[in-house]
Amino acid sequence: MSLAPEYTALQPRRLTTALAGHALGTEVQVHETLASTSDHVRDLGSAGYPHGLVVLAEEQTVGRGRRENRWSSPPGQDLLLSVLLRPEVKMDLWPRTTTFAALAICRAIESFHASLQPAIKWPNDVYLNDRKVAGILAETFTGGGSAYMVLGIGLNVNTTTYPPELSQQATSVRLALGSSTPLDRNTIAISLLKHLDHLLSRYDEHYPQVVDEVRQRSWLLGKKLTAMVDGAEVRGVAATLNSEGHLVVQREDGSVMTLTSAEQVRPVAGELRCAASGTLRRVAG
Ligand code: BTN
Repeated sequence: MSLAPEYTALQPRRLTTALAGHALGTEVQVHETLASTSDHVRDLGSAGYPHGLVVLAEEQTVGRGRRENRWSSPPGQDLLLSVLLRPEVKMDLWPRTTTFAALAICRAIESFHASLQPAIKWPNDVYLNDRKVAGILAETFTGGGSAYMVLGIGLNVNTTTYPPELSQQATSVRLALGSSTPLDRNTIAISLLKHLDHLLSRYDEHYPQVVDEVRQRSWLLGKKLTAMVDGAEVRGVAATLNSEGHLVVQREDGSVMTLTSAEQVRPVAGELRCAASGTLRRVAG
């Protein structure tokens, strides 16, 4: 585990040096304040910036989450970053990028401290100790002559207090470790970006192995859930992830449904029958 001394700022030179030779990090920008790192990268993407640009901010004034949500984080505490991607694979495969990001976040947290066991809440969140520690926002744009992706990641590293409405739902790496001193965000950012860089070479035939790893870290599998899909509620048990990384749900009437990108997936408290094992498990609220 790497504790930051008294100085916990993001260090652009250290990040750039560590990422030398990788496709990600061809340029690393660290800003004191941005409205949103993803908006900034979207604009640079449309101006023709190349694959691999990484933008981090100490503070966002209008951080964006999915479904029009805001993403808030106190200045200088967490990781707020966006990456410009121009994947050289057919666009049908681009949604796999979210899976890569989720796995890269997990691996970075695990390598930071062996006691940490992050889990992926399909499709876009990473949990620690049953609370959200990171969110992923993957967006595709066309502009500047070609399509590109902006992959935005918010990872709670050092925040120790959350507003009452989030205090039971959110956590940070520091809280999970019970550390009395701040953690070095640079170490985690470098690890995350190196893992992501490596995984981005796996859009094709290696993708099923990536899904295997994601399955092993799945927070949702075996849990009873409701999902909103195209405005309709789907209820059932998260049975597995198929080889594409889509969520297979066993519905209450016994039928099976595959979710490609549910708008909202929520675990449901109560007793449930796991499709795979037939055992009963109680799910906390
Ligand atoms: C979510 O859980 O809804 C996704 C949250 C994504 C937040 C990150 S923070 C860095 C980047 N810039 C943004 O405005 N959003 C993403």
